[in-house]
Amino acid sequence: MDKGGTAVPVWAALGLGFSELGGVTQHGQPGNPQPRMFRMVEDEALINRMGFNNPGADAMAGRLRTWHDSGAWPSHPVGVNLGKSKVTPVADAPADYQYSFKLLKNLADFFVVNVSSPNTPNLRQLQDKSALAEILAALQEANDENRPILVKVAPDLGFDALDEILELVEPHNLAGIVATNTTISRPAETGLYAETGGLSGRPLARRSTEVIRHLYRQSGGRVPLIGVGGIFNSADAWEKITAGATLLQIYSGMVYEGPQITRAILKGLAKRLTREGFTELREAVGTEK
Ligand SMILES: Cc1cc2nc3c(=O)[nH]c(=O)nc-3n(C[C@H](O)[C@H](O)[C@H](O)COP(=O)(O)O)c2cc1C
Repeated sequence: MDKGGTAVPVWAALGLGFSELGGVTQHGQPGNPQPRMFRMVEDEALINRMGFNNPGADAMAGRLRTWHDSGAWPSHPVGVNLGKSKVTPVADAPADYQYSFKLLKNLADFFVVNVSSPNTPNLRQLQDKSALAEILAALQEANDENRPILVKVAPDLGFDALDEILELVEPHNLAGIVATNTTISRPAETGLYAETGGLSGRPLARRSTEVIRHLYRQSGGRVPLIGVGGIFNSADAWEKITAGATLLQIYSGMVYEGPQITRAILKGLAKRLTREGFTELREAVGTEK
């Protein structure tokens, strides 16, 4: 949501336990022409084709440095979502990601390799095992401070493709997987659903949870999973946690519910935890029947 790092201290102030900025690409770019975001209000859904509008890695580094120097840097972990510039051919993707990572690695706490946005042509091809391995090798080669690096996956990948990504976790020292990005699938073909882009919000919730559940079971719970997709309330959050997520993110929920969503979810989760006989959230991870 904070694509250009313009509101870095805000997210902690809203009660969030961590935040993720970006997506950032090597080259600054305007993104797609407007309109590029659509709300299906009655379905609590969004379609976006922003196309990585961002100031570029150099400008982002300058902004993050300014935030650090200002003393307003939040005390919670701040991550950066890394994308690929539209002008960079897919074959040169490793260098594009590595460029941004080198500039930003000492300015943030963790990094998410975004190979799952539907809004940069051919980007999702980079989820292919060998292509992704090349990107991860380029990043780890530059990762002298051992920053946690995660991969963000599309909900449209089949379980076989997800399993191949899991095979990269150990050899490339991945800290976890973010599941999921927006979907190119649609619950209907009419009205705003005919717009090109990635669908998020309520209609994404079930598939996102399925992906989390699969990754959790397939990895024997050994790979940290950040669950995202259609979380609007504490019941949605509980589903993601018990399916196997250890951390949660929200985007569409924040758009529809507003900033008080954090408090509502945390209060609900605390009650649920007690009701289920747990004392800590981590005890609930992956416990669904
Ligand atoms: C307007 C908009 C812009 C987004 N930009 C990015 C992005 O730059 N990088 C990324 O990995 N995901 C991006 N996402 C995807 C979200 O981070 C999230 O994975 C997805 O929306 C599902 O969560 P939600 O249902 O809570 O929105 C974007 C989503 C929206 C709605």
